[in-house]
Amino acid sequence: MSVNTVEHNRARFDFEGVDAIWLFGYGSLIYKVDFPFLEQRPASIRGWVRRFWQASHDHRGTPEAPGRVVTLVQQPGAVCRGMAYRVSPSVFEHLDVREKNGYLRFSTPMTFDDGSEAEGLVYIATEDNEAFLGDAPEADIARQIASAHGPSGPNADYLLRLADSLRALGDECPHTFAIESHLRSVVTEDA
Ligand code: SIN
Repeated sequence: MSVNTVEHNRARFDFEGVDAIWLFGYGSLIYKVDFPFLEQRPASIRGWVRRFWQASHDHRGTPEAPGRVVTLVQQPGAVCRGMAYRVSPSVFEHLDVREKNGYLRFSTPMTFDDGSEAEGLVYIATEDNEAFLGDAPEADIARQIASAHGPSGPNADYLLRLADSLRALGDECPHTFAIESHLRSVVTEDA
């Protein structure tokens, strides 16, 4: 069903002597900022696309009826836009628990809007994690999202808030916007 990645992440990166580090967010980390940060800047990473291919058993769904949330999938030449936060390493004690359903922290180069670059960390749920669902028609993904609810609320809110945040960032994410549009028709059909 799902693997808890908290211990894996704690062992992954030695924060000894590090006062602050950049974190790149591309999903709920863009709009649900429940952690302190020192600085916040829109940024992009290269070679990755956002996909609703990861199951959520703990936030936007349940083990019996999982929701779908985003992860990153490699695609040469792609650019994924998101929000970068400069944070104290202590923030990861909270975020590792929040992102525990399959996400591991990876290092990534990221580019800010002024062209400057920095190294940061990003949470990615890779295809070998037990909660990875993979590809499906976008209309089917929207139907699954429309019916899923979890302790953090309806899965639909995750999608709609993410889509709004991406528009505010000036991002074009055809995958997210297509699922959003399918979701709006599912909701209208059911009304
Ligand atoms: C992220 O937002 O960067 C990770 C995925 C999520 O929490 O939605």
